[in-house]
Amino acid sequence: MTLARMAVRTCNLIHRSFASIPHSNTLHSRQISMDAQSIAAQLNNSGFLRNQGLVGGKWTDAYDGKTIKVCNPATGEVITKVPCMGGRETNDAIASAYDAFSSWSKRTAAERSKCLRKWYDLMIAHRDELGQLITLEQGKPLKEAIGEVIYGASFIEFFAEEAKRVYGDIIPSTLADRRLFVLKQPVGVVGTITPWNFPLAMITRKVGPALACGCTVVIKPSELTPLTALAAAELSLQAGIPPGVVNVVMGNASDIGDALVTSPQVRKITFTGSTAVGKKLMAGAAGTVKKVSLELGGNAPCVIFDDADLDVALKGTLATKFRNSGQTCVCANRIIVQEGIYEKFASAFTNAVQNLNVGDGFGEGVAQGPLINEAAVQKVESFVQDAISKGAKVLLGGKRHDLGRTFYEPTVLTDVKSDMLISREEVFGPVAPLLQFRTEEEAIGIANDTNAGLAAYIFTTNVQRSWRVAEALEYGIVGVNEGLVSTEVAPFGGFKQSGLGREGSKYGMDEYLEIKYVCLGNMNFN
Ligand code: SIN
Repeated sequence: MTLARMAVRTCNLIHRSFASIPHSNTLHSRQISMDAQSIAAQLNNSGFLRNQGLVGGKWTDAYDGKTIKVCNPATGEVITKVPCMGGRETNDAIASAYDAFSSWSKRTAAERSKCLRKWYDLMIAHRDELGQLITLEQGKPLKEAIGEVIYGASFIEFFAEEAKRVYGDIIPSTLADRRLFVLKQPVGVVGTITPWNFPLAMITRKVGPALACGCTVVIKPSELTPLTALAAAELSLQAGIPPGVVNVVMGNASDIGDALVTSPQVRKITFTGSTAVGKKLMAGAAGTVKKVSLELGGNAPCVIFDDADLDVALKGTLATKFRNSGQTCVCANRIIVQEGIYEKFASAFTNAVQNLNVGDGFGEGVAQGPLINEAAVQKVESFVQDAISKGAKVLLGGKRHDLGRTFYEPTVLTDVKSDMLISREEVFGPVAPLLQFRTEEEAIGIANDTNAGLAAYIFTTNVQRSWRVAEALEYGIVGVNEGLVSTEVAPFGGFKQSGLGREGSKYGMDEYLEIKYVCLGNMNFN
């Protein structure tokens, strides 16, 4: 396969991330050439451009009337304004969620499951509109955005099914006149704080299991990407999920976060975002001893051994590095290549990367959209400059893209060392730093030399080595000969400072359940 073809195939893979998108008569195929403003107008006309918070089933403005702008990262244009809410609105949302909990938690699992299934069906029915919203406010290419809708919706479908499988236990008693039981019950109101890089999927991965277990939620989406969250919340109402079960507040992040972590009525905080904010939330939650799940930063190593299948390694590395323009917690952050294959890999990889088409996410054939804002570009720039100043060489890119503002050129750096900023911190951009190693032991040492432990990737055709290295890596997720591993059926989460708890899969339910031991005594059987 030629490298250009490989890049195109990989882009398709990234776009479809996690789900196939049939080429049926979908709206996006007609609208892909339309400009962002007419798409926004159309979404507004069809009721998808919600611009108020949702508190107790009512669309609500900020109590002081303040608003914040939501901008298209590709153009800087204002899409709409949403309320800049704070502590007061959040406390009301918590009160609504608390009230709704008593009835929602008492519904049968089958009833909750039906509502979730309906919500899933509506998301799929409106995947084009939701995808357009994601591209508008987050910037990722439309096909990739629709891929996120399918991925995000899959958590609702999966947990609609899991709702019916919350089994308890009967424990053999130590005394003849006792019977011992374990019940699993919903924790209560969940404060759900989500990031901008997956405006839908990071919400559904939390809210799906929460609602399935019988919890109610107050969602705080990123103020950069609240529109997808609001549209999803609207669909939750249409699905028959009762008012107050799903609430959405946005605006002043620290005021909202404080209200959620300090409220005694909120029994659980679930957060995806930076490690620094995760630590603050964890400390804050200590005051009321809440359950906490954290999905924090990564620093993913992608280790390519001499014995790797080069095509598989190229495809997998491209996919994990350039998905969402490098803005995922599981993106390869360090590409660690064995010396025997280093030069060959570097040149083939560079050829493939230069075929990635950069542009507005609504543009035809675009594989790399903008970064979320100019601050993100500045961070990428500073990491690349630091690496160059310490001896890294630029094989491709290494600077802002001609499109300006939020666009950065897909970049390949060689001669990268472990002490450079780019190896120590999450770059969150389209930069592939290549490091070199000699032995398997050295590769494991480099890979594990970080406080993060979310995802890691290895490419090798040696089965023994793949097991040995997968077991030695201090990471919650390991992709072997595969760069895209996220799925609703497998546990997602990290070791070390990458977080606490797991999302997705059957393990994702445990995060929203309390275990209750019931002892039935003095039974007097005789
Ligand atoms: C993330 O970047 O936090 C999520 C990525 C994924 O779900 O694959």
